[in-house]
Amino acid sequence: MKKRILGVLLVCVMVFSLLTACDDKTPSSDSGSNASSSTTSVNDVKGTKVGVAMPTKDLQRWNQDGDNMKKQLEAAGYTVDLQYASNDVATQVSQIENMISSGCKVLVIASIEGDSLGTVLEQAKEKNVKVIAYDRLIMNSDAVTYYATFDNYMVGTKQGEYIESQLGLKDGKGPFNIELITGDPGDNNARFFFGGAMDVLQKYIDNGQLVVKSGQVDFATCATQSWSTENAQNRFDAIISANYSDGTQLDAVLASNDSTAMGVTNSLEANYEGNHSNWPIITGQDCDKPNVKNMIAGKQAMSIFKDTRTLAEKTVEMVDAIIKGKEAPVNDTKTYNNGTGIIPSYLCEPVFADATNYKKILIESGYYTEDDLK
Ligand code: BGC
Repeated sequence: MKKRILGVLLVCVMVFSLLTACDDKTPSSDSGSNASSSTTSVNDVKGTKVGVAMPTKDLQRWNQDGDNMKKQLEAAGYTVDLQYASNDVATQVSQIENMISSGCKVLVIASIEGDSLGTVLEQAKEKNVKVIAYDRLIMNSDAVTYYATFDNYMVGTKQGEYIESQLGLKDGKGPFNIELITGDPGDNNARFFFGGAMDVLQKYIDNGQLVVKSGQVDFATCATQSWSTENAQNRFDAIISANYSDGTQLDAVLASNDSTAMGVTNSLEANYEGNHSNWPIITGQDCDKPNVKNMIAGKQAMSIFKDTRTLAEKTVEMVDAIIKGKEAPVNDTKTYNNGTGIIPSYLCEPVFADATNYKKILIESGYYTEDDLK
């Protein structure tokens, strides 16, 4: 009996020491800088610095993204260096350089131009600083470990389907006049949004149920530099005066996001509203407050709601996994090739909001208060 107990004890001791040995080998991103501290547990992230590079403060969404990321990373114990780059690529590059040299272990980057970070991210790679592409894919750099975003193609299909159902296109209704506007050609997302929407709408253009009077249908012509409201408005001023000033009705505008939708609305208010009886169905994305107000006022039909709280949550999970030497949860390993291979991605699900459901989606979820939308 005694022998048996001794045997069991011996096995327990062996299993315990084996487990401890395995634990010691768990990779930690702190190796190198903290190698001397044998007390540092892999779970201890206190003070680990994370750089968060956002494109601009001009659009509401990026302010929310930045705030959410900072709040959630700090709650998880990280120290955060949050920077905005005024939509200027050189500024973003130098902010990233500073983040690398000041000891950030992980960089979360919403790029201004997907193709412009290759060189600076070489430096990150040399220093074993990991990179997460946030919302926008960083192209042609093998320094990117993960991509956290919304399903960008689905954003586009939801916009296209909204127009399809509001105009009754599946029932053969038409012809209707439509115009198209999308985002910055340097933003990989813009092609996904536009492509997703056109995969729904193209067949109706081909069969004549939808007519694009301006003739402007290809991505490059419909693109908007810097996603700027002013650029969108200028383009639409020209489209309206050339094609709709004789009283022709415009029935729908596919706009890829809220900043471009706002340019369209501004243009219609100036050049269309007084001498036309209808107001077109206009799509959007982000549910920015001024656009939701327009939605309530009937000036924008819908917007895609991307809950930036969820995106931040998923990104923090990725940061945590990297720091703790684990695999991050991803749900897409086939869609996003950045030119160096597929980047494992987590795609959050977008939903549409319009005047019929915005209270539930935006207010009851705690995203906005009633007062925010007055
Ligand atoms: C984002 C959109 C945003 C646009 C302009 C895109 O990359 O996914 O949500 O409206 O950039 O900032």
